[in-house]
Amino acid sequence: MEKINVRLKRTVDDSYEILVGSNLLSEIPKDLQKKGIGNRYALVTDHNVERLFGSRLQEIFRRENIQLPIVSFPAGEKSKNLRTFAELLGKIHSLGLDRKSAIIALGGGVVGDIAGFVAATYFRGIPFVQIPTTLLAMIDSSIGGKVGVDLEQGKNACGAFFQPKAVYVDIDFLEGLPRKELQSGLAEIIKHALIFDSRLFEFLEKSLRKLISKDKASWMHVIQKNCRIKAAVVEKDEKESGARKMLNYGHTVGHAIETVTRYKKFSHGEAVSMGMSFASRLSVKLGLLSEKESLRSTALLQAAGLPVRLPALPMGKMLEVMRKDKKSIGGKLSFVVLERIGNARHDVIVPEELVKEVIAPLMD
Ligand SMILES: NC(=O)c1ccc[n+]([C@@H]2O[C@H](COP(=O)([O-])OP(=O)(O)OC[C@H]3O[C@@H](n4cnc5c(N)ncnc54)[C@H](O)[C@@H]3O)[C@@H](O)[C@H]2O)c1
Ligand SMILES: [Zn+2]
Repeated sequence: MEKINVRLKRTVDDSYEILVGSNLLSEIPKDLQKKGIGNRYALVTDHNVERLFGSRLQEIFRRENIQLPIVSFPAGEKSKNLRTFAELLGKIHSLGLDRKSAIIALGGGVVGDIAGFVAATYFRGIPFVQIPTTLLAMIDSSIGGKVGVDLEQGKNACGAFFQPKAVYVDIDFLEGLPRKELQSGLAEIIKHALIFDSRLFEFLEKSLRKLISKDKASWMHVIQKNCRIKAAVVEKDEKESGARKMLNYGHTVGHAIETVTRYKKFSHGEAVSMGMSFASRLSVKLGLLSEKESLRSTALLQAAGLPVRLPALPMGKMLEVMRKDKKSIGGKLSFVVLERIGNARHDVIVPEELVKEVIAPLMD
C-alpha cells in the first residue's frame, strides 16, 4: 500500500476594511482600484434597491469609466433560495465575468447573503464587496462572511463562510428606510449592547428619540460601535464555536416564534425582541440578572417600538422547535443569558419546565 499525504495546512489572510461614513458611494470605485479588487464588476441587488439606487451607483462607476451591469431579483426573503441563486449564477456567466471579476452586493441582508454565496461558488470563488442598505445589513449581516440561501426545509440551511473583500457602510441609506426595517436593525443593535457593551446600552437609552427621528450624528456613533462589535466577534470566532454564539441572544425563542407562526406574523426583529424579553426574564429566574436590569432591557425594547410580550402560541410546538434548534445540546435546551447589561454567557442548559414557567406569564 502506498500512502500519499496531501498536506494542506495553510494560513490565510482574509482581513478586510469596513468603511463607515456618509456620502461614501462616490469613493467606492477608486477604493476598489486602490485595493486591487476586481477588474470587472457586476452589481447584484433586489428590484426595490435597484429602482432606488441602481442608476446612481452605475453613474458613479461610469464617471470612472467602469461599466456596472446590474443583475437583480424580486425583493424579499422568498427570493433567498436555490432557484434565485442558480439564476444569478447564469446571468453572471452570461455577462462574461471571470475569476478576476468582483461582485458588488448592494442591498439588505437577503442580497448580501445570496450575492455572497454566488461569489463564493462562481468559478469556485471570486471576490465580492458589500454595500449594505438596511440597518440590519449595516451592523450585522454584511460583516462576518456567512453567506447562503434558505432551503424549504430550513432557513439559511445551505451556505458557506466566505468573507467580503471590503464593506462600505453609507449611513445615508437610512434616510428612506421604512420604519419597520429600522426597528428590525434596532433589535439587533439592542442585542449587541445587552450582551457586550453597557455604555452603548446607556447611549441607546439616552438617544433613542434622536435615532428614531434619524439624527445622523447619533446614527454614525451607533453604527460605528456596532460594526466594531460585530467585527471583534468575527475576529475572535469566525466559525461560531464560542464568542459568536453570544449573538444568538434572544434567538432561540425568536426562531421558535418565527417557525411556529410560519414566518408570516412577525419580522425577525420583532421575534428576536420577544426572545430577548424572554431571555432577560430567564436570566433573572436563574439568579444571574437583577430585576432592575431586566426591566431596563425590556423598557428599551418597548421604547424602540418592539414587542416584549408573546402571542398565545402552542407551548408544545414551541418546545419542539427549540429542541431541534442548532443551539440545543443533545436535545437539551440551551440559551444565551445575561449576567449584567453588557455581559452574557452562552450554552446555559435550562430544564424545559423552567422555560415554560418563564414563557407562560409573557404570553397574551
Ligand atoms: N449573514 C449574516 O450573518 C446574517 C445576519 C443576520 C441576518 N441575515 C439575513 O439577512 C436577511 C434579512 O436582511 P434585511 O432585514 O436587510 O432584509 P432584506 O434584505 O429583505 O431588506 C428588507 C427590505 O428593505 C428593502 N430595502 C433595502 N434597502 C433599502 C433602503 N435603503 N431603502 C428602502 N428600502 C430598502 C429591500 O428591498 C427589502 O424589501 C435574512 O435573510 C437573514 O437571514 C444574515
Ligand atoms: Zn438576528
